[in-house]
Amino acid sequence: MRRKLVAGNWKMNGSLAANSALLASVNAALGNDVACDIAVCAPAPYLAQCQALLASSQVALGAQDVSAHETGAYTGEASAAMLAEFGCRYVIVGHSERRSYFAEDDALVAQKTVRVLQSGLTPIVCVGETLEQRESGKTASVVGAQLGAVLAAIDAARVADIVVAYEPVWAIGTGKTATPAMAQEVHAQLREQLTGCNAEQGAKVRILYGGSMKPDNAAELMAMPDIDGGLIGGAALKATDFLAIIAAAK
Ligand code: 13P
Repeated sequence: MRRKLVAGNWKMNGSLAANSALLASVNAALGNDVACDIAVCAPAPYLAQCQALLASSQVALGAQDVSAHETGAYTGEASAAMLAEFGCRYVIVGHSERRSYFAEDDALVAQKTVRVLQSGLTPIVCVGETLEQRESGKTASVVGAQLGAVLAAIDAARVADIVVAYEPVWAIGTGKTATPAMAQEVHAQLREQLTGCNAEQGAKVRILYGGSMKPDNAAELMAMPDIDGGLIGGAALKATDFLAIIAAAK
């Protein structure tokens, strides 16, 4: 049985005041025994603030991106080692917004994943097809190639150290959600690919669903056999919604 993970991706939202209010509400509402792992992935300038706000919280901290390089003359970049120093446990890599707006390809995403693992953090590797790719029957080949590039780059003995997030691009921020059956079909394919790489470890990997996950659809999505949690955008910015999704993760 895999423990579920509910991770908020704040994207480029927040402020010192808003982050403080949101995390105070979340921290106050969580009891001591939560049934799932929880994380928030904050914008880089707020990592120090969130590290302090989460110091004695059940909520882990994550970042939204990382450099593919270890150190050096890469203006604007933040390394995995730097993220680790600010208490990050998770790092999102290959989010579709980075793939489409910042031209990140599968090779770069694989390199970033390697760097995150080298620093002892957990990469949340995002995969997902566009509407056009889905409608032309390419979903399986697109997500297969995206995950395949990562699996080819990492040590097969470390497969269990990654988290995968299936985020159909057409469902992100649109209010359109994949049905539980549609999502499960892709998650099952991803599971097969993970266990094909390492049978024992692939069975342990958490595969999150992301794309308009909300309090009213979270429970049915997370009831599917290979949906092990959620990567939450908009609903993670509202404490009551985020907490309701956490409560749905059993
Ligand atoms: P929404 O939940 O806002 O659709 O965003 C999903 C997402 O992209 C999380 O990474």
